[in-house]
Amino acid sequence: MTSVQLTTAWTTTMGIRLPIVNAPMGGVAGGALAAAVSRAGGLGMVGMGSAASVGHLRQELEHVLGMDHPFGIGLVGWVVAREPELLQVALAAKPTLLSISFGDDSSWVHRAHDEGIITATQISTVQAAEHAVETGVDVLVARGAEGGGHGEPAVGTLPLLAAVLDQVCAPVLAAGGISSSRGLAAVLAAGASAAWLGTFFAACPEAMTSPGARRALLAASEVDTVTTRAFDVAHDYPWPTRIPERALRNDFTRRWLDREDELATDHQAHRSLRMRPPWTIPRSPQ
Ligand SMILES: Cc1cc2nc3c(=O)[nH]c(=O)nc-3n(C[C@H](O)[C@H](O)[C@H](O)COP(=O)(O)O)c2cc1C
Repeated sequence: MTSVQLTTAWTTTMGIRLPIVNAPMGGVAGGALAAAVSRAGGLGMVGMGSAASVGHLRQELEHVLGMDHPFGIGLVGWVVAREPELLQVALAAKPTLLSISFGDDSSWVHRAHDEGIITATQISTVQAAEHAVETGVDVLVARGAEGGGHGEPAVGTLPLLAAVLDQVCAPVLAAGGISSSRGLAAVLAAGASAAWLGTFFAACPEAMTSPGARRALLAASEVDTVTTRAFDVAHDYPWPTRIPERALRNDFTRRWLDREDELATDHQAHRSLRMRPPWTIPRSPQ
């Protein structure tokens, strides 16, 4: 059987056959997903998010260490600042790509380079892209406002990608709302070196999502998401307020939309959310 190949200059550098990267997604993109994506010819990323721990990272890395394919690791900057050992463990695993997003400290870039590791970060404006290149980051992930999970909802994916490519001399991956071969073709045609897919892979059986979450993702339409801080506030995750997340719309998001300050002091709402994962909360008829 011949294997599919669709290369860009960047995929050749990375030693992969397809311009597809699974986005590092805390609680969703573990080692099993990363291994499956890398074995299929893309670049699998082991992701650790707000609730990252050194033990969990080590456990998920078991799936990819020793594999005969490149893999990556993605961490969250403000979480690494709180738990620096995450970076030590990530560097020791010698991923081909290390991505750290949503942080202010760029010292990790030089530490990764010292280990021969290629670095990436997610950016949401041209200014942030220029700053990342100045700090030495090798690969930019232009993450548009359509993106699932956390990110600064500043600019749509295509306009951001185009503006960053015009301004910055570095490989740029496109992220945000890409979930079909048409979407992949569009960003490659615009000049992206690869696509960085999150939500699409969250619906795969290899992801750490529950069957219920996968069903909810697959059943959702293009108007079923919302950008919100409600889950962060309810879970006490200290994400900066300028970085909300895009999630499936449900009765919880509808109830607390634009009322996050009130939610912060409503302990009963916190408890009820902790007892019921977001995708089990029914959606009201539109
Ligand atoms: C459930 C979920 C969790 C995420 N967690 C992280 C994370 O821990 N670290 C990170 O850098 N990005 C995270 N992201 C953002 C992705 O890296 C990426 O920007 C986004 O998924 C791209 O948009 P898409 O979901 O429309 O493909 C997450 C995204 C999702 C959907």
